[in-house]
Amino acid sequence: MVNLFSLAETAKDCELCPLAKQGRTQVVFGDGNPNAEIMFIGEGPGFHEDKQGKPFVGAAGKLLTQLLGSIGLRREDVYIANVVKCRPPQNRDPKPEEIEICTNQYLFSQIEAIKPKVIATLGRFASAVVLGLKDVSMGRVHGQKFKREGRYIVPIYHPAAALHSRANLEPLYEDFRKLKEYLEEEPEIVQEIETKAEQLGLF
Ligand code: URA
Repeated sequence: MVNLFSLAETAKDCELCPLAKQGRTQVVFGDGNPNAEIMFIGEGPGFHEDKQGKPFVGAAGKLLTQLLGSIGLRREDVYIANVVKCRPPQNRDPKPEEIEICTNQYLFSQIEAIKPKVIATLGRFASAVVLGLKDVSMGRVHGQKFKREGRYIVPIYHPAAALHSRANLEPLYEDFRKLKEYLEEEPEIVQEIETKAEQLGLF
């Protein structure tokens, strides 16, 4: 069984990928409720996250807090993490090698430890990584649920997109309303039906 706290301790001094030596201030492991029903996954720490050691504490993070509030959740109710735990220089996209090392070492174990009912992936980058796809079109997949290993993965727009263009704000609120719906569903029952259907050879 994965222990979230020992994983965080190990991550503190991580030097497994090149990002460790490319100007990070500290490792941004993740933050929130270790028993959360919903986990949010972004791309990687930015300037403010790197300084404060917590994910989503800059402008995008403030909007994320408001979006959570719109469905009756506080940051303390959820768990927030990123695909990579160290800030890439100049906020460039993380490289495939960095993603592979960091997700195998930390992100997938974090998910296993928290066991969220719903994983909301923020933006195209995190959505593709968590869904295990090369690329995704957010316009096509946002707000939809994909079932994987008994949990829902829901790609949603990245809050930063709404900071760039106000037109993206309403779709983001709509995505959050969907998340609330999915959280209120009963996945155990869905799972049971699926298992039965599988046994009967219906899938
Ligand atoms: N954007 C991200 O994807 N993650 C953060 O932690 C902050 C901004």
